[in-house]
Amino acid sequence: MGTNKVVLVTGASSGIGLACAKLLSERGHTVYGTSRKPSPASLGFRMLELDVTRDASVQAAVSTVLAEQGHLDVVVNNAGYALAGPIEETSLEEAQGQFDTNFFGVLRVCQAVLPSMRARRSGLIINVSSLGGVAGLPFQGLYSASKFALEGLTESLRLEVASFGIQVTSLQPGDVHTPITQNRVRAQGGGPGSPYRSAFETVLRIIEKEERAGVPAQRVATQVLRLMERKQAGVRSTVGHLSQRIITAAKAFLPSWLFERLLKSYYGL
Ligand SMILES: NC(=O)c1ccc[n+]([C@@H]2O[C@H](COP(=O)([O-])OP(=O)(O)OC[C@H]3O[C@@H](n4cnc5c(N)ncnc54)[C@H](OP(=O)(O)O)[C@@H]3O)[C@@H](O)[C@H]2O)c1
Repeated sequence: MGTNKVVLVTGASSGIGLACAKLLSERGHTVYGTSRKPSPASLGFRMLELDVTRDASVQAAVSTVLAEQGHLDVVVNNAGYALAGPIEETSLEEAQGQFDTNFFGVLRVCQAVLPSMRARRSGLIINVSSLGGVAGLPFQGLYSASKFALEGLTESLRLEVASFGIQVTSLQPGDVHTPITQNRVRAQGGGPGSPYRSAFETVLRIIEKEERAGVPAQRVATQVLRLMERKQAGVRSTVGHLSQRIITAAKAFLPSWLFERLLKSYYGL
């Protein structure tokens, strides 16, 4: 790959994606950001319309980049949202919606960009996962499940495409201060009359407080830039407050019962 890279960042209208697209274009990369409803206001990089839940929309956006640039070096699969609610009371439709964006959205984009990357024997795919993809979080069960699935996809895909010169890596942010908090979708369950209501509200308050105290999105953008500059992007990396990043090591080294006890006490469960 040359120094000036052609980069596609999904979900670049807000939060982490916006910070990534801005930083990478400031550093001289040719950046295409995406949104389901791109605003006409210039953000300093080109914006394309893309809904990761629609095959045709993904194909059209990728085709535009390839037609204009001839190739694509880096994809940051960032578009996503958080669904909150008790698992028992989350409808299948709500659960499928979460997977359609956070998991199948990434799969659609990967399938659309891989042929051209394979042909050039070069490419980097950065999948924005979460520490919720390392530990199952209470009342964010479907969000966590979608990110666990993304972790599996990332590990498998790495093995399949390495021989074509393509790298795939998982980026696991802890809490990041972005509009994800306001954009959180609440499952229909968990409301008045729900046996989970009190625990759900307590946990949600903790989650939202932690997000507001999260690191700025620019920190994640800097990590994306670092991954692009590395010769080899590893299987995964974390970014965020150290107190949260150690979750990965804690889960690997502590006995499961102790790790779970710590999580329960953290969330007041
Ligand atoms: N903030 C955190 O604490 C945190 C922690 C760990 C991981 N993450 C992950 O980081 C990623 C970005 O989150 P954020 O915090 O930056 O949230 P955000 O500010 O709410 O931004 C979400 C972005 O995703 C896009 N998006 C949502 N649904 C989409 C769809 N169906 N098709 C295309 N784009 C879609 C939105 O674009 P439009 O609405 O304009 O289409 C928006 O640009 C997510 O994958 C999230 O899971 C966030």
